[in-house]
Amino acid sequence: MSKTKISPGRKIHGVVELPGDKSISHRYAILAALAEGPSEIHNYASAADCRSTLKCLERLGIDITHKDRIARIAGKGLAGLKAPRRTLDAENSGTTMRLLTGVLAGQSFPSKITGDSSLRRRPMRRVLDPLGAMGARIGASDGGTAPLEIHGASLHSIDYTPPIPSAQVKSSILLAGLYADGVTTVHESVATRDHLELALREFGADVHVVKGAVTVKARPRLQGRTVTVPGDLSSAVFFIAAALVLPDSNVIIHNVGLNPTRTRVLDLLLSMGAPIHIASLQSRDGELVGDLSIQHSTIAGGTISGAQVAEMIDELPMLAALGPYTEAGIEIRDAKELRVKESDRIAVIAEGLRRLGAKVEEFPDGLKVEGRRAGKLRGAKVDPHGDHRIAMALAVAALGACGDTTILDSDCAAVSFPEFFPTLARLTER
Ligand code: S3P
Repeated sequence: MSKTKISPGRKIHGVVELPGDKSISHRYAILAALAEGPSEIHNYASAADCRSTLKCLERLGIDITHKDRIARIAGKGLAGLKAPRRTLDAENSGTTMRLLTGVLAGQSFPSKITGDSSLRRRPMRRVLDPLGAMGARIGASDGGTAPLEIHGASLHSIDYTPPIPSAQVKSSILLAGLYADGVTTVHESVATRDHLELALREFGADVHVVKGAVTVKARPRLQGRTVTVPGDLSSAVFFIAAALVLPDSNVIIHNVGLNPTRTRVLDLLLSMGAPIHIASLQSRDGELVGDLSIQHSTIAGGTISGAQVAEMIDELPMLAALGPYTEAGIEIRDAKELRVKESDRIAVIAEGLRRLGAKVEEFPDGLKVEGRRAGKLRGAKVDPHGDHRIAMALAVAALGACGDTTILDSDCAAVSFPEFFPTLARLTER
């Protein structure tokens, strides 16, 4: 098993260029495969999850080369996918499984998709129910988990409100909607990340968003194109947090995706007193991109609940791990969804932070991590249970502890950010 030692840091300092956004990379790859003609995706995510999507698309008969951060995809049009000879493997990637299931539901051939032991525990009914309502026939285990057996069918469009706000569910339905017989609508009570809607437009589909209702017209002719993926804000947050942990820190992060459906975490940190500045804001391929700079400051802390949870779902482990460095601590509520992510993120981050000496109270729907007054963290051996975001969050918290920390199974960070540990080491001054 891999492990990484994190020694206490004095400050973090320097300039970072981040790999491409994971959510956007998945979506560009899928749309490029369904488009007519070649596409070039620059700064394609180095995340293992996004390689899983490329491997599944290759098994569906799509020619792909992925080199030097550029994915070249020879799109074959909406009807161009081929029946896979083997089961598709989404590995650890929930986005791969849920989005591709939407695409596969509308094909004229059967297919199977599975994943690793973590993904095979995650709930799939949230996509199987609406896809079933569109006429898809998909077999799953009794618990509604993968492996999924998808019997291609002709689909009807639907008008659907997901019971839990989820960009993956919305995207799965909209992708199936491309193969339906009319206009498909997904209603959202909380605006989740809208990368698919923006990308669909870039590739030539007819998409409208009015008052929380996203509609897509079936059977568009998608056209291959060249697009560039912005840096991943969810990865940037680990360096922003590291700057808030270590005094005298100063970090600049270039070319970060600043889509407003993703930046609530920045609004929250700003409201807690974090000195974050945005420069060179511009629009590229429909997405906002800019540079971030962050200096150290002690932040107030506070409670994250309600709609905020869906708006910063991937940043919650890092925010929890910032708790011991805030004045009032961090409390997260209404976040039961965290229990069905790559790990039970409430239990696993609570266990890791306690091992580092934090005072943590766990609730069914969240946790409370005490602030600075509860004392300084101490280095320890921590286990992220194979969850990339927990491994990175604990590493950042460990920078401000006394004594060394060992992050077990630290290679799991590669699921979203293979360059994380070397980049953190480069920026940390001891
Ligand atoms: C994602 C949506 C979110 C997020 C995940 C990526 C996406 O999941 O946690 O990391 O790319 O659509 P949910 O849709 O389950 O909230």
